[in-house]
Amino acid sequence: MFELKERDGLARICELTTPHGKVTTPVLLPVVNPNFRTIAPSEMREKMGVQMIITNSYIIRSTGALRERAEKSGVHDLLGFDGPIMTDSGTFQNYVYGDVRVDPREIVRFQASVGADVGTILDVFSEPRFTREETEAAVEETLKRARESVDDRGKMLLAGTVQGGIYPDLRERCAKEISKLDFAVHPIGGVVPLLENYRFKDLVEVIIASKKGLNPSRPVHLFGAGHPMIFPLAVLLGCDMFDSASYAKYAREDRMMYPTGTRFLADLHDLACHCPSCSRTSVEELKKMPPEERTKRLAEHNLFACLTEIENVKNAIHEGSMWELVEMRARAHPALLEALKVLSKHKQFLEASEPASRRGAFFYCGPESYERPTVMRYQENYFSRYRKRDAKVLVGFPEAQKPYSRTYWPIMSKILAKVDAAFVVVSFFGPVPIELDEYYPIPQSVIPEALDAEVKEKINRMMERHAHQHGYPLAVIWDGEETLRFLEDIVGGGPKDLDLDLLRCRAVLDMQFGRGAGDILDGKKVEMIKSPRTGKIRNVIIDGAHALSMRAGDGRFTLKLEGGKLLVKVLPSPSMRVKTDDEPAGFAAKGNNVFAKFVLECDPGIRPGDDVLIVNTKDELAAVGRALMTPDEMKSFKRGVAVRVKDSPD
Ligand code: GUN
Ligand code: ZN
Repeated sequence: MFELKERDGLARICELTTPHGKVTTPVLLPVVNPNFRTIAPSEMREKMGVQMIITNSYIIRSTGALRERAEKSGVHDLLGFDGPIMTDSGTFQNYVYGDVRVDPREIVRFQASVGADVGTILDVFSEPRFTREETEAAVEETLKRARESVDDRGKMLLAGTVQGGIYPDLRERCAKEISKLDFAVHPIGGVVPLLENYRFKDLVEVIIASKKGLNPSRPVHLFGAGHPMIFPLAVLLGCDMFDSASYAKYAREDRMMYPTGTRFLADLHDLACHCPSCSRTSVEELKKMPPEERTKRLAEHNLFACLTEIENVKNAIHEGSMWELVEMRARAHPALLEALKVLSKHKQFLEASEPASRRGAFFYCGPESYERPTVMRYQENYFSRYRKRDAKVLVGFPEAQKPYSRTYWPIMSKILAKVDAAFVVVSFFGPVPIELDEYYPIPQSVIPEALDAEVKEKINRMMERHAHQHGYPLAVIWDGEETLRFLEDIVGGGPKDLDLDLLRCRAVLDMQFGRGAGDILDGKKVEMIKSPRTGKIRNVIIDGAHALSMRAGDGRFTLKLEGGKLLVKVLPSPSMRVKTDDEPAGFAAKGNNVFAKFVLECDPGIRPGDDVLIVNTKDELAAVGRALMTPDEMKSFKRGVAVRVKDSPD
């Protein structure tokens, strides 16, 4: 069982239940070679907080003494590790040495018989250098073996590997086909040569293509990825599990791992680390140590470096700062930066898992920040959902202190005293109508004043698009008092009273729930309860009923049941709806959360964090709540809450 606990886009914190207990992902499984142990597995568990390890069943099976002991008392006893153990199958040995002779079904049965918690099929390693034909053959044989051996797993969870070399369509096909079978984990295989050669750009394409085909309710293991440099990027793309022999392999070569890269011990002036291994010893002492002892110490350091970076990633998921972490880490190596830039090609795909808003602010980390799905989402919604207010002229303001409406209110009042005008700010995110100045991510962003030239260029292009589409008879850029005189002479007309609060409610409704949602205010008596301290809208009362609450954190609405009732009328099905059978809908109406397994259908436009309408099969509103999953996840997960109910009839 795999349960979603927390997320930031495709990056997620989940709980995987195995026969030897639960594991929190993202997780790193250190590789334990059953023949020689650089660090004892028991020590990893007790002193380093390692949750789960991976070992090789093919090596155990082909080494007499190991096989005997494993068959007699199990792999946990053999390795001296009482937590969950994953086993691999010999695929990698076949790739490296080429002489693995074992039956694909037999090796799966062997893994189950020695009590592995997670076993792996004998997939065919699809090398990046393979031709398309060779890759197709590897995929077909992998799928054939997957189908044949899936029922040999016994009580063990089984991992069905995605192969497909560097051909995105073959990766996606393999992922789709293998997802149809009853696997518990899906590794992405055949990527070690990409990792070894810093081909991170190709790795990104491989992961994304695989994720597109995979069932989102299953954990994804990136086979052979064990360098801290790659964890943030891989987790951002939806990888949950990693395994590493690198911590020991690098140690044997006197190399130390850091989130920013690898260093030879010989080149180091200071260790720049205070892990339990490094804080005991100076760099000089390490250099002089007998090789075997030094290898152990460096292996410990390397493993700590990996585990620490996994924890950094988990913090970033909690905080909603995965993009910031990935963009910062991308500076460690040009190949990582290149890989980051590839993500902009896949914005549409990434946007589908992008949260509606985040707790933390949008931090600008460089020109790549403009390519985040959040920026695209704002722009797309602005152009497709926002409805402009009729006015004689549009006045554009330059970027200024946020919230813009407070900064520009004195100027706006002067203009409105003379002519009826609408206002827009030329921001980093593109055109921001003044009434959207509290809407995520506009004020929840920290952007430097001096922007990179390529970003300025992109903003200019966005404003050109706006200029073509805004539809006002006249538009001017505010340039001081002179603009005011110009407006007076050219436009004329009388003063205009602007109800910014009402404008804000309508615009936020349209942006958040879809064009037309703002119509729920039409012809109604609308009252606002505002914060006495900040002056911000808190509650919106429509015809005497509390319908909406505006969140100070992201400027979006929390739906009350009354608001839901109004929205169901103006938004055509399936907009913003999560549909369940009548019985679970009845539970929701009593205030119970909606579990994923009860979701029948939902609006494909729903995003995690959206306020949604829970309806029964007759499209009657049962309750309103907050979506915690994407539509695909709601349909795939068998466990966990899809919608947290926020308001219900009783
Ligand atoms: N270890 C590293 N790469 C692979 C792979 O592609 N398949 C399996 N089974 N193990 C691996
Ligand atoms: Zn260290």
